[in-house]
Amino acid sequence: MTSFHTSADRDAALRALDAVIDPRTGQGLATAGLVQGLVIREGRAGFMLEVPAADAAAYAPVRAEAEAVLAGLPGVERAQVVLTASAPEGVTRQRKGARVSEDPKAALKPRKEVTRPAHVKRVIAVASGKGGVGKSTVSVNLACAFAGLGLRVGLLDADVYGPSAPRMMGVDGEPVFVDGKLQPLTAHGVVLMSIGFLVDEGAPMIWRGPMASSAVRQMVNDVRWGTEAEPLDLLVIDMPPGTGDIHLTLMENFAVDGVVIVSTPQEIALIDARRAAAMFRKTGATILGVIENMAFFADPSTGRPIPIFGTGGAKAEAAILGVPVLAEIPIEIALRQSGDDGKPLVATGSDSAAAKAFRAAAKALS
Ligand SMILES: Nc1ncnc2c1ncn2[C@@H]1O[C@H](COP(=O)(O)OP(=O)(O)O)[C@@H](O)[C@H]1O
Ligand SMILES: [Mg+2]
Repeated sequence: MTSFHTSADRDAALRALDAVIDPRTGQGLATAGLVQGLVIREGRAGFMLEVPAADAAAYAPVRAEAEAVLAGLPGVERAQVVLTASAPEGVTRQRKGARVSEDPKAALKPRKEVTRPAHVKRVIAVASGKGGVGKSTVSVNLACAFAGLGLRVGLLDADVYGPSAPRMMGVDGEPVFVDGKLQPLTAHGVVLMSIGFLVDEGAPMIWRGPMASSAVRQMVNDVRWGTEAEPLDLLVIDMPPGTGDIHLTLMENFAVDGVVIVSTPQEIALIDARRAAAMFRKTGATILGVIENMAFFADPSTGRPIPIFGTGGAKAEAAILGVPVLAEIPIEIALRQSGDDGKPLVATGSDSAAAKAFRAAAKALS
């Protein structure tokens, strides 16, 4: 199959998309500026169609038509248009009345009219101040441990700039729309949604902050997480690192019942974790506890813990925050391997110290 990625192909795609009329302006989609983040690569074509939240339903047929147009282009085997609702003015930006010189985070108000995803009883966000400390590892293993307790569990991979759930849960596939809602995929007894299922890897890298935020909003609102008959007991959100737009979008718009902070024992990670905890508290969220990841490495010959990243820090930190340490997860090669293999350690039935710690934390949180 010929690859399809020259600029001529891009121009052809944009021209073709102009044949689809934007109902709001009467212009073609490309001319109306509605073709965002167009990606054309290896037989796949797609873009984000960002429309005002109130108009989202009216654009569903436009989305379908645009997909059909892309799919009809030479060399395109698979087309995907992601419909995202843009935020009403000011939701992800500074609030009215905030002075420019003010720290935007200081202007945060406690959450007001927050919504709960339909048919979801409880939402727990897994967050950290820093990347690479093990949020995704903790999220997938906690989710599997909750499922092991007999709970109906969902996992939302909100790290749109670095989605991990598809790899760590060992799933790939295209979620389908049924009755206007996206069906999440299922793996290891957990239903999940990730931007990795919706667009090409790498595509979100070029998104502006509001686009990333609206993609996350869509993954909360437009996914059938539960049904009236089978509501979700718990939705675990694997957050991106830091304290950016996506965090504010989630915390200000959705009912997040609690936040679990992941940190390594390292001082630098702890400082970042403290910053993250402060931000979450400002939004009115409850910090449920700290999970210390990479707490130690058990010497293979003696079993003695070797504190590779230091020791005791997370405990002290939890004490300062006035929250419990929910788990101390050791460094385990099998844990890293399980993430790479798409079979979360907890789901393999492992009885390693890490697997046990995840199960105990899930029990404490359930
Ligand atoms: N306790 C652990 N033992 C061994 N490897 C780990 C552990 N926690 C995380 N890792 C590995 O470290 C890397 C980063 O973890 P990840 O969960 O992706 O972090 P984050 O989501 O915070 O960026 C991954 O390769 C993961 O498998
Ligand atoms: Mg991650």
